[in-house]
Amino acid sequence: MQGMDSNLLCADRVIKALPIALRQVLQVAVYDTVGSTNDVLREKKGQAALHGAVVIADQQTEGRGRRGRRWCSPAGANLYCSMGWRFSGSLEVLTGLSLAVGAMVAEQIKTHLGVDLQLKWPNDLYHNERKLGGILVEVLGDESGGQSVVIGFGLNVNMPEEEGASIERPWTDLGSAVGAEVDRHALAGAVVAGIAQGLAQFAESGFAHWHAVWRHRDYLLGRSVVLDGTPPISGIACGVNDCGALLVESAAGRVAIAGGEASLLEIGPAS
Ligand code: BTN
Repeated sequence: MQGMDSNLLCADRVIKALPIALRQVLQVAVYDTVGSTNDVLREKKGQAALHGAVVIADQQTEGRGRRGRRWCSPAGANLYCSMGWRFSGSLEVLTGLSLAVGAMVAEQIKTHLGVDLQLKWPNDLYHNERKLGGILVEVLGDESGGQSVVIGFGLNVNMPEEEGASIERPWTDLGSAVGAEVDRHALAGAVVAGIAQGLAQFAESGFAHWHAVWRHRDYLLGRSVVLDGTPPISGIACGVNDCGALLVESAAGRVAIAGGEASLLEIGPAS
């Protein structure tokens, strides 16, 4: 989408876009430029203030994706946001969390903009066969019977063509999906609220609810896939399991591959 939202993001406008009930619960901070919004929150490790803290930046100079990739984060264009959250219990309570967050974002974008996104295992948001956003969940560790996490998401909103030219893989943005520039403040409020509400539900019932959303939006379902490994695993993607692992029907039978274990090398067309 050509053209940029000339307004710098501001906290007051994001907070006004939140439901009233969440305005006291979430602590929203908006920066002009940071290295990475995830890193800003990682510095709150061990502090009670991490829970419910929301950091949004207009620009990131060290935006990070999964597997050490760079996240293209130009100023005045997109949404770069991280939320701190603390869950009670052992590490297992986080099973499926990063996939669930993708589903929360996709559902909220459908409600807010009417755009149907697909979820590409494990953490990508797709539209029209192109990547539009991604989720980066970082676990800070076990603190007195609980798990603290930083949940980062990046959405291409009104990405200038010249900035997007540096992205190696096919990409798109929400402006292209709706055919008009998208208001980033309203979008930020809607998505942050959707995640906060979704996380409260996740704390109660885990991945189960979001599993159904995943099935409905699963980009890989029915496609041939090849995952790295020794030897590489190839087969037909047939959904995710209760833990968020990718299920692949391979020559050796059905295998479940956890997100941290392997990455996709090839994807074929949907059959
Ligand atoms: C991916 O698709 O690889 C995940 C991308 C996550 C990008 C977001 S932007 C906000 C937050 N800060 C970062 O440095 N990364 C995440």
